[in-house]
Formats: sequence, structure tokens, C-alpha cells
Amino acid sequence: MNETTRDVVELGQWFDAYVADEKKIEPKDWMPDAYRKTLVRQISQHAHSEVIGMQPEGNWITRAPTLRRKAGLLAKVQDEAGHGLYLYSAAETLGVSRGQMDDGLLSGKDKYSSIFNYPTPTWADIGAIGWLVDGAAITNQIPLCRCSYGPYARAMIRVCKEESFHQRQGYEIMLRLSHGTAEQKRMAQDALNRWWWPAVMMFGPSDKDSAHSAQSMAWRIKRVSNDDLRQRFVDMTVKQADYLGLTMPDPDLKWNEERGHYDIGEIDWSDFWKVVKGNGPCNRQRLAHRQKAHDDGEWVRDAALAHANKRVARATRDAA
Ligand code: 3HC
Repeated sequence: MNETTRDVVELGQWFDAYVADEKKIEPKDWMPDAYRKTLVRQISQHAHSEVIGMQPEGNWITRAPTLRRKAGLLAKVQDEAGHGLYLYSAAETLGVSRGQMDDGLLSGKDKYSSIFNYPTPTWADIGAIGWLVDGAAITNQIPLCRCSYGPYARAMIRVCKEESFHQRQGYEIMLRLSHGTAEQKRMAQDALNRWWWPAVMMFGPSDKDSAHSAQSMAWRIKRVSNDDLRQRFVDMTVKQADYLGLTMPDPDLKWNEERGHYDIGEIDWSDFWKVVKGNGPCNRQRLAHRQKAHDDGEWVRDAALAHANKRVARATRDAA
């Protein structure tokens, strides 16, 4: 074994022991190329999801039923933009540029969360997204606060605080609707019917079919498996739906005393993969909208770059 190979083997052993000891890896630390690669993949796709996720909700800002609801939705959508920026910045510490990540999203090469490829035809969808999608996001993101990569873990702490507000404002919308007129309750039930299974699938494929879970868990990136997070979300949400007086759209849902959890019906993974592969109800619309925003923002990027280059030139001249 030559020197460099031995170094890499010894460094790999150091790395595994270091993360197993719950220590944080920072940008300047040595890390296996594959660790870096999977973090760039996951963090950039997480950032893409936050930015694309602004679209289904942004669609209702001008149509919110009251000023209070408009203010709450505006704040939430602005938060999501901020989450996207945090996460793109966390990914940049791994050596990938924002331009590369934008290209990855806009070319369709990179994924973003399946959940954002569904339409929002009624105001109740905004309640269901806050309640279910942000509820699922919190369930998934709280363990990520213990991720072995420092910048990602730290970004998650602030994101989770803001997600809690998102989930509460969504649940309050559903509470008002489900205890409102018959038509409002029907709208809330319709939204639950349409968002429940996509939210359950948001946690990713079942553990036996997950391509990355085993290694991500070994590297302390993923702290809880897809199925265990899904179960946590189901157990929490069924009780919340009961309180709303809404019916869960799953005839096979039942409490399993022996497991101490709810059993759910079969997940239609063909529908999940259809959406992930770009053939969901809104995939093309979401990417076209993001492409237009990118194109419309080119002058801002150029101006910022010109300004930055001018400052660098002036600093270089002054230093000479
Ligand atoms: N949508 C699209 N693709 C998905 C997916 C989903 N819901 N779930 C899994 N996939 C993809 C994975 O990206 C992977 O594909 P790739 O190799 O091309 O990247 C493949 O399916 C196999 O899945 P794995 O479970 O093996 O992949 P991971 O180990 O990466 O686990 C994950 C998937 C649980 C989503 C994980 O990446 C993760 O925890 N990501 C961070 C959280 C996140 O991205 N959440 C998305 C929503 S953001 C949000 O909700 C914002 C809130 O404000 C509303």
C-alpha cells in the first residue's frame, strides 16, 4: 500500500471515528469525496425544494381571504426563500458554486421534493401545505440539526424554528375551515384528500429501496430512516386530523396496539416515481416558472458581479 493510499485509509478511519463520536465536520476538514458528494446532492436538492416550494403558496398571496392571512403567507414564503439561500450557502462551503446548482435544477438533472409538484386550487391547500408539508418537513429536519456536517446542522436549527410557525399557521387555517361552514369543511377535507399521500411519500422511498440511507446513516448525515420519520409523521398527524374532525383518506389506517403506531395502507410508489421523474401534475410549470425568474434576474446577477469585480480591482490597485 503506497503512502497516499495509506494516508487515505488512515484518514478514512479517523473520519469514521470522528463522526461516530458525534463531532462536526467543518468545511476545511478532510472528508471522503463520497461524503462531500452526497452532501452536495442532498443540500442542493433541499435548497431547490425550498425555492420551488415558494410557487404553490405564492400563488395565493394576492388572493388570501384576509389581510392577516396575506401577512402570514407572505412571511412564510419569504422564510422559504431564506431557507433556500441558507442551504445554497451551506452547499457552497463544499466547493460547488451557486451557478452549478442553478444549472443542476434548471437542466432537470437535480431533483427537488416531489411534494411541490401538485396544484393549489383552493385556499384550503395553503392550510394543508402548512399543516402537512411543513409538518413533514419539521419531522425530517429536526434530526438534521444533528447532522455530522456543521454548516448543514447549523442551518437546520434556524430553519426548524421558522418551520414551526409555518406548521402552526397552516393548522390554524385548517381549524378555521373545518369548523366553518359546510362548504369550508368540504374544502378542508378535499385538500386533506389530495395532500395526504404526497406528504407521506415526501420522506422518500421505503428503507429497503433507499439508495443512500445506509451510507448516510453511517456518516451521521441521516439520523433517522425514511420509514421511521414517516411513521412519526403519521402518528402525529392522525390525531391532529381527528381534532379537526376530518377523515383520513386511507381506509386501511388503524391503530396497531402491538406496534404502538398507526398502520397505513399501501403507498403507491409508482405515483411517487412518476412525479420524481418529472411527470407530476405541475413539474413542467414549476421549472418553467423558475427558469423565467432566473432569466429575468440575469441583470441583477450581472450588476452584482460588475460591482464586486470593481471593488476587487480597486482593492488590488490600492494594495499595489
Ligand atoms: N422528492 C424527490 N426525490 C426524492 C424524494 C422526494 N420526496 N425522496 C427521495 N428522493 C430521491 C433522492 O433524492 C434520491 O435520488 P438522487 O440519488 O437522485 O438524489 C432517491 O430518491 C433515493 O432516495 P433516498 O432516500 O435514498 O435519498 P436520501 O437518502 O437523500 O433521502 C431525503 C431523501 C429524505 C429527501 C433526504 O434527501 C433529506 O432528508 N433531504 C433533506 C430534506 C429535504 O430535502 N426536504 C425536502 C422538502 S423541503 C421542504 O419541505 C421545505 C419546507 O419549508 C416546506
